[in-house]
Amino acid sequence: MADQRENALQYAQNNRANFLSTYKEILSIPSISTEKTHKPDIQRAAEWLSAQLRALGMQKVQLFPTAGSPIVYGECLEVPNAPTVLIYGHYDVQPVDPVDLWKTGPFEPTVIGEDIFARGASDMKGQALVTLKAAEALIRTGGMPINIKWLFEGEEEVGSPNLASFIASHTEILACDFAVNSDSGMIGSDFPTITYGLRGLAYFELRVYGPAHDLHSGMFGGVVHNPANALAELIAGMHDSNGRVTLPGFYNRVLKLGKNERAELARLPIYDSDYLEQTGVPALYGEAGYSPNEQTGVRPTLDVNGMLSGFTGEGSKTVIPAWAMAKISMRLVPNQDPQKIHKQLLRYLKKNAPADIRWELKSLAGSPASISDRNNPGVQAMAKALETVWGKRPYFKREGGSIPVVGDMQRLLGVESVICGFGLPDDNVHAPNEKQNLPTWYRGIDAYIHFFLNLKP
Ligand code: BES
Ligand code: MN
Repeated sequence: MADQRENALQYAQNNRANFLSTYKEILSIPSISTEKTHKPDIQRAAEWLSAQLRALGMQKVQLFPTAGSPIVYGECLEVPNAPTVLIYGHYDVQPVDPVDLWKTGPFEPTVIGEDIFARGASDMKGQALVTLKAAEALIRTGGMPINIKWLFEGEEEVGSPNLASFIASHTEILACDFAVNSDSGMIGSDFPTITYGLRGLAYFELRVYGPAHDLHSGMFGGVVHNPANALAELIAGMHDSNGRVTLPGFYNRVLKLGKNERAELARLPIYDSDYLEQTGVPALYGEAGYSPNEQTGVRPTLDVNGMLSGFTGEGSKTVIPAWAMAKISMRLVPNQDPQKIHKQLLRYLKKNAPADIRWELKSLAGSPASISDRNNPGVQAMAKALETVWGKRPYFKREGGSIPVVGDMQRLLGVESVICGFGLPDDNVHAPNEKQNLPTWYRGIDAYIHFFLNLKP
């Protein structure tokens, strides 16, 4: 019998053009989960994925409706005594605005040089397809060497509000040895990376109300507290001069960075110059005493994600706005609790909001951080696969972004996740001109082929 490894890799090599055209199909569906008008597109993306699973010969393919986007499930359990792996993906994407900054249509996937440009190319339709195409290569060359279950959700980009309850009520169908999550990226195209930590999130909308309606800023400027000024003052007070967050108790439960881990993270090939280049800022900022890599990976942060108030049109209009609004979120680390963070923010506002305005706080999303066990057999199989394809051992990184399902699966299924995807730091995720590097994508497919085969008993 010819070696399946060779045959599957050859299949992937021969089918690159097919893989790319399937990739373009899913990238053409504007499955934006934050906007209600895209509900039919969400449905279409879910159905497209179920069709892919059916074409792969999955035994059971099911679309589960939820209060939000449908969950797509498929399974192929044909290898007795082999491990069962639950593969996670999300088919929803972020909004595209500011749309005029895109050089090509966000849902008209376009290959330019080595990259494919489209919303979701990197985060994470491309990464979801890596797992699907690796499975296809194996299925078409003798069959899956292990048992697989797929779980695709369509609300990751809005905090997975309906996923935990779905998992909790379907623990039997989702039972597995461990999970695989490709919703992540690499330090650089030459640096294969396994992510072992993710930050959590607590997301809020803060509204500040002043006068009953906009006022002439000459007639009333000086006698009323401008809500835009008041909001700015409140936000300014949320950090001290060392870049630390001032909410009462914010750091109480933060898991401290150990000496060994600190030394290990310091060895990662990530430099200040990379951050300067990737962001375009004139200088870096952050909590004193921590490197950029620690600031994003192991320390919690607070950021304003958007602000709205008063006159923002062309020219000048002299008003005191009636209200002001800010979207404020915290990235959390182990063992911070989003609900406690909510209480801390309320306490901060009660203490610091002046009596001459009214305010209102809404909690929009929350999920805790996670750390994954690096001794999981899945991690070993993935490390070996990456080493085979890249010719070097993978780097282990704690990521600043959030993937709520990783913690949900730990808590509700008792399973660890192997987190490995092939996005790059300059992919413009959540920004205009999102892209995926295609040579890296093809290598990722090869890596998952090796990974699945490495798990064969
Ligand atoms: N794929 C990202 C998370 C990520 C970012 C992993 C960078 C590794 C590197 C994911 O789709 C994402 O953006 N999640 C949101 C989740 C939030 C709404 C709960 C995030 O992190 O903002
Ligand atoms: Mn993602």
